[in-house]
Amino acid sequence: MAVMKIAALISGGGTNLQAIIDACQKQNFPAELKLVISNNPSAYGLKRAKKAGIETKVINHKDYETRDDFEKAMNKELINAGVGLICLAGFMRLLNSNFVNLWRDRMINIHPSLLPSLKGLNTHERAIDLGVRVHGCTVHFVRAEMDEGPVILQAVVPISDEDTPQTLAKKVLKKEHIIYPQAIRLIASGKVKVAGKKVHIDNKSLLQTYKINPTPK
Ligand code: GRF
Repeated sequence: MAVMKIAALISGGGTNLQAIIDACQKQNFPAELKLVISNNPSAYGLKRAKKAGIETKVINHKDYETRDDFEKAMNKELINAGVGLICLAGFMRLLNSNFVNLWRDRMINIHPSLLPSLKGLNTHERAIDLGVRVHGCTVHFVRAEMDEGPVILQAVVPISDEDTPQTLAKKVLKKEHIIYPQAIRLIASGKVKVAGKKVHIDNKSLLQTYKINPTPK
């Protein structure tokens, strides 16, 4: 089976990275994690990748004069590794539109909210403050605007009166670790097509397996 080479960009703890590593180790998973890049030399995710025998590179944004130079350095490594898909997994740097457009429809992100609600930081705290009843996470293709782009998968987490930002973060993270590998599986098996602002997933049995609702027309 043809396997898609993927890379993860991280800045921190890397629990989503771990979920991707674990998924890629499963039999018949259609993607191989070739490279992990961190802008933060002390990101714990680097240890996770090394432990799994995956190539890591630290590309510290502080070593570059401009964001463009930093991104060019990342791009070089991604091209060298023959990567077909970039997974942002807690990568805490904004990306210039040049880089984003180079990887259009080949770069995905996971965000801890039901986009387009609650873009940006501190989503769990904000969800509680707003009094919304449901929260969750989104895997989406990356566009130049922050937390924008066609939605691939989402998972919902109900908010209870007892929830704190910490308990909510835990519940959402658990869902993130499920839907991120699912999204990668769907993309790597060629089931995902971007049509304008929407994503179509064209495999009914996969939709059933993963309990995904078809994209509304
Ligand atoms: C997650 O909440 C993810 O949604 C957001 O950054 C966080 C990364 O966590 N983009 P981890 O490093 O994967 O544990």
